[in-house]
Amino acid sequence: MRIIALGSAAGGGSPQWNCRCRVCDLAWNGDSRVSRRTQASLAVSANEEDWCLLNCSPDIREQISVCNWLKPRGKLRGSPIRDIVLTSGEVDHVGGLLSLRENEPYSIFGSAEVLELLEANQVYEVLDRRVVSRQAIASGETVTLGSGITVELFQVQGKAPLYLERGAPTAGAASDFTVGARIAAQHKTFFYIPGCAAIDEDLAGRIRGAQLVFFDGTLWTDDEMIASGTGRKTGRRMGHMPVSGADGSLHTLSSLGIGRLIYTHINNTNPMLIDGSPERRDVEAAKAEVAFDGMEIIL
Ligand code: MLT
Ligand code: MN
Ligand code: ZN
Repeated sequence: MRIIALGSAAGGGSPQWNCRCRVCDLAWNGDSRVSRRTQASLAVSANEEDWCLLNCSPDIREQISVCNWLKPRGKLRGSPIRDIVLTSGEVDHVGGLLSLRENEPYSIFGSAEVLELLEANQVYEVLDRRVVSRQAIASGETVTLGSGITVELFQVQGKAPLYLERGAPTAGAASDFTVGARIAAQHKTFFYIPGCAAIDEDLAGRIRGAQLVFFDGTLWTDDEMIASGTGRKTGRRMGHMPVSGADGSLHTLSSLGIGRLIYTHINNTNPMLIDGSPERRDVEAAKAEVAFDGMEIIL
């Protein structure tokens, strides 16, 4: 299986268009300690011909244009993208579907709740259903996609998407709004969990001993957006547990015997984005990695 991180940032990308936080400022100034990151998404293939995207960010056009594997090939019009699996209905995960509307056949998969969000947004009708199919995957069900990879979706703690929030939403309950994906092909398996408010027993049990896990690296500390003056919400309130701390993901995941732990969906306020920073060194000391755009993994 070949896996490519098309993007590795949280919604907004890094640098973010309107932001001058520490990481964004370094990026705007061309500092070599930070890289430019588009919004998180993976491309996966079992045969290097047919590709599945895990989420479709608003940066998809740019991501395809720099990824040789995803260039059009064959007929006058033809993309190697066969399937798109959605792990939430957040804008950074579904916004790019609107850029893939040129009558090209592919299939969209997600939980019933996430597909319902597309149903409720008429702008997605621009994807002609006779050409672009939609199929719900129930929690626990395992489906083999057209691209040949097998997918299971499972609920993780999260919340309804930001654009549906009215007042204070329930954050932290497991629901089909935020799922993780278990991807398998050729006897290899990995997990993609770009949004997660907490690691409960169920999740810990699933990913214990996994070969490879991509995990939510949005924030370093829970109050990071408040402390940096960039926002008013804690990470957990946004559906993202912090990386650091005794109850953070790095400490928890380090005890689960995971072969390779790679952080993705990283917010531009997260200091682990800076090469050589103490926070990056903490991640590396725990033998975990920070994804970057274009990162390729053969499993
Ligand atoms: C999130 O991950 O919390 C969302 O992508 C927020 C957003 O849409 O900006
Ligand atoms: Mn997001
Ligand atoms: Zn910023």
